[in-house]
Amino acid sequence: MEIATTVAEVRELRAIIARRRWAALQRRPIVGLVPTMGALHEGHASLMNAMVAETDVRLCSIFLNPRQFEDSADLSRYPHALDRDLELCRSAGIDLVFAPSAEEMYPRGFETTVQAGPLSSRWEGEYRIGHYDGVLSVVLKLLNITQADVAYFGEKDFQQLRLVERMTFDFDMEVHILAVHTVREADGLALSSRNALLTEEQRQYAPQIYRALKVAADAFSAGERDSQIILGKAGHELAAWSQQGFSVDYMQVVDPETLAPRTTAQHGDRVLFAGQLGDVRLLDNIMLEEDLTGL
Ligand code: PAJ
Repeated sequence: MEIATTVAEVRELRAIIARRRWAALQRRPIVGLVPTMGALHEGHASLMNAMVAETDVRLCSIFLNPRQFEDSADLSRYPHALDRDLELCRSAGIDLVFAPSAEEMYPRGFETTVQAGPLSSRWEGEYRIGHYDGVLSVVLKLLNITQADVAYFGEKDFQQLRLVERMTFDFDMEVHILAVHTVREADGLALSSRNALLTEEQRQYAPQIYRALKVAADAFSAGERDSQIILGKAGHELAAWSQQGFSVDYMQVVDPETLAPRTTAQHGDRVLFAGQLGDVRLLDNIMLEEDLTGL
């Protein structure tokens, strides 16, 4: 596995590896990218596994992007573990890791930003002003630097996934964005780099998020279509959570394309959740699916 820290290096190494694969495969190799911010876990690994199965040259970027952190305390406590991250990349079968510094990505004079559209105005975008401008700008840079044919994103960050899809479509970018299902702990908690910041007590409460989302999904598959009722049932699950002083920022049924709230839920809609456990912000979501068993 090669490791590059500059844009020039990653481009050169990508070209060398691609030429080698081209000769071996006798066709143009497909280049994949998994963009990450490090502190890697099995969720990231599942994106990498999908990439290893589907592409010929596999890149992973590890860059804790300061421009998507509107809160500097959140940035400074974000977990780091570069050596462990590189180990995980190596065992996943990554060919090339791009781990640049902030100065390399944003040299003196850097001033252009992608402005996320209305898809960013709700949910996370409302709580984290400017966050998605920072995400889209760095994703655009990473896709341009790596010239990836395919890039992998987790459904865990559903709004981010939709915004990246939107940007690549709007800007006519020749990259396919592929979505990967959320990887969870045995108790249902969605894996997240931020889980490491939870206290033991908070960690015990955290699985209630997925339990609540499951209640919503079960209500839908049992025939309930009224979003208020679906969310009321899910909210019940979180009653103990709020008694502990933890807060729910939003839990809503949304159209998966526009992310607009839906009063009558439909098959394929998403329930989006964000809440705050102490200083730690946790996101999760679930798809509402009709029960097709017995058809
Ligand atoms: P990060 O939080 O490191 O996540 C990198 C990718 O892993 C994202 O696409 C995210 O959705 C996915 N991911 C995280 N947890 C997951 C889980 N439990 N199951 C499946 N996939 C999961 O998201 C970012 O970084 C950044 O915003 C980035 C896109 C890299 C831009 O800086």
